[in-house]
Amino acid sequence: DKGNHRHFMQKEIYEQPVVVAQTLQSYLRPLDGKVALPIPDSDLADIRRVTIVACGTSFYAGMVAQYWIERFARVPVEIDVASEYRYRDPVMEEGGLALFISQSGETADTLAALRHAKAGGQKVAVVVNVPTSSMAREADLLLPTHAGPEIGVASTKAFTCQLAVLAALAANLARAKGRLSEEEERRIVRHLAEAPAALNGALAYDEMIEKMAHMIAGARDVLYLGRGPDYPLALEGALKLKEISYIHAEGYAAGEMKHGPIALIDEAVPVIVLAPSGPLFEKTVSNMQEVQARGGRVVLISDYDGIAQAGDNCLATITMPKVHPLIAPLVYAIPVQLLAYHVAVVKGTDVDQPRNLAKSVTVE
Ligand code: F6R
Repeated sequence: DKGNHRHFMQKEIYEQPVVVAQTLQSYLRPLDGKVALPIPDSDLADIRRVTIVACGTSFYAGMVAQYWIERFARVPVEIDVASEYRYRDPVMEEGGLALFISQSGETADTLAALRHAKAGGQKVAVVVNVPTSSMAREADLLLPTHAGPEIGVASTKAFTCQLAVLAALAANLARAKGRLSEEEERRIVRHLAEAPAALNGALAYDEMIEKMAHMIAGARDVLYLGRGPDYPLALEGALKLKEISYIHAEGYAAGEMKHGPIALIDEAVPVIVLAPSGPLFEKTVSNMQEVQARGGRVVLISDYDGIAQAGDNCLATITMPKVHPLIAPLVYAIPVQLLAYHVAVVKGTDVDQPRNLAKSVTVE
């Protein structure tokens, strides 16, 4: 049932504040300022390496997690798409945690990779949205997302719920490794607990984004740029746009532009820049200015301060709530989802069932 919404995708975008809160509830104890995964710290303390494997949008959630796990837990992380991991003869050492992320829990490549890692002696953790799925059954550690059934083929609420679980996992691993003070843990829990309200704040810009969609809908190509944990959001924005609106889109690490893709820049290619306030803001803005200096038309997604500082020569700006950099990837998922959604509606494509795609990819 779509309720008041025109499409399942729109309904699922709007469910995010509630389902992310639901998901966080089972991994945080806000009153004690603690993260609480369903595994004793002693079972995590000897993990020496994390390997993250997934496909598509779930893979991008994994890319964000790589930043968090390395930063908080100081454990080396390798990450790969499942279809590559399975066949590249990966090195599996003792003390390895293999982490699989999947909405459906049935994606054939990811499931095959899970079995491969298990056979290689890795401890297997899964972040899945379907608790009865094959991956859930075969895991040593099951970390469910509580997004509820996702019907739209383009993943939205499953993604932000995956991020919520992965942030809690990173913090819990950090504590188990003795890398997190009580004060730091309390702070992380507080920032995560603020995410649902911030997601609501981000949804308030829906109408503005809908208007902006008309400017993007005529483009043949669109670029998305981000840095650090918001670089995977650029990839996710581009994936969402191409899969439901059929506009060619690419995501890049903002600093990579000058190594090639900047040659594509002209006034016909809108460039969406994701730049929340934080330690990487100035660098991202300087990459954005390189684009503008070559005639590129920029849509800047930032918070009030960021837009006040750098929004002047932009084609358009989208104002997000000002949030701690930790939760920015969750919050900035909303405008990229909404932009793709509205562009697809303008173009009249089948939003919930885009051509050539299936919700669950059960063949390799
Ligand atoms: C994109 C999308 C796909 C899936 C991918 C993995 O919107 O939905 O890229 O993310 O097929 O699916 P799961 O997460 O079920 O393994």
